Amino acid sequence: MKIAISGKGGVGKTTLAGLLAHVYAGRGRRVIAIDADPDANLASALGFSPETLARLKPIAELEDLIEERTGAKPGTYGAMFKLNPRVDDIPERYSVEERGIRLLVMGTVDKGGSGCVCPESVLLKSLVTHLLLREQEVLIMDMEAGIEHLGRATAGAVDAFIVVVEPGLRSIQTAQTVARLAQDIGVRRVYVVGNKIRDERDRQFILSNLPELPALGFLPLSPLAIEADLQGKAVFDMDPGLVQEAERIADELESRIKTLQ
Ligand SMILES: Nc1ncnc2c1ncn2[C@@H]1O[C@H](COP(=O)(O)OP(=O)(O)O)[C@@H](O)[C@H]1O
Ligand SMILES: [Mg+2]
Repeated sequence: MKIAISGKGGVGKTTLAGLLAHVYAGRGRRVIAIDADPDANLASALGFSPETLARLKPIAELEDLIEERTGAKPGTYGAMFKLNPRVDDIPERYSVEERGIRLLVMGTVDKGGSGCVCPESVLLKSLVTHLLLREQEVLIMDMEAGIEHLGRATAGAVDAFIVVVEPGLRSIQTAQTVARLAQDIGVRRVYVVGNKIRDERDRQFILSNLPELPALGFLPLSPLAIEADLQGKAVFDMDPGLVQEAERIADELESRIKTLQ
């Protein structure tokens, strides 16, 4: 199962990624969570301990590794470098694990202009491709409101592309844009999850504004989720109600994928 999560900033992508990682780990699956948002904070949403966090290095900042694998220093444009660097050992060597969830942080690629191809972006893209093609593992990728790390070659390996929205037109607009981008590169199954839902009106707002995207489920607006963020705790340790909804979302996902909907 390979799940990519996108949507506007602040809608709850990281919260959903953390919940789903917890749900799948609880079901005894091997889980790898990928923080692919330049504004990386999945580790704290997973409630990882300070000791674990201290060992965590974003891949894009591993200059020696990037140079060793691509043959060029990060940030060098127009230089000669390998377009298919070795990455198969990176997930195990540079990830951290707690409570059955392995976490890998991609880090920020400083793009010196649009469409640039630089050693670090090539390494990250190769890494994502490798991870998407690995089997027997649930992959959950927390992304920004874009599809930076996905390409035509790997879009088909994404089992579910989830766009998170909150009640409000701005996140709906972002959802429409990102869903189109994903579909354009060949992602087959694009779904929506509504977050911060207060009532039936919020649900209907999302359903009626995104009629073309099947909804996997809805997460309620939760004071406990806010409290978790205040305390730096994992949302799944604070709010059993959200975990229950995430269980339902995971079930819905499994059944849709089985029936290829
Ligand atoms: N269901 C929810 N109820 C209340 N607050 C939420 C909920 N989901 C997320 N939040 C809060 O909204 C903020 C943004 O959530 P986050 O998951 O970091 O969004 P994103 O990753 O999309 O930027 C956080 O402070 C988080 O605690
Ligand atoms: Mg986030």
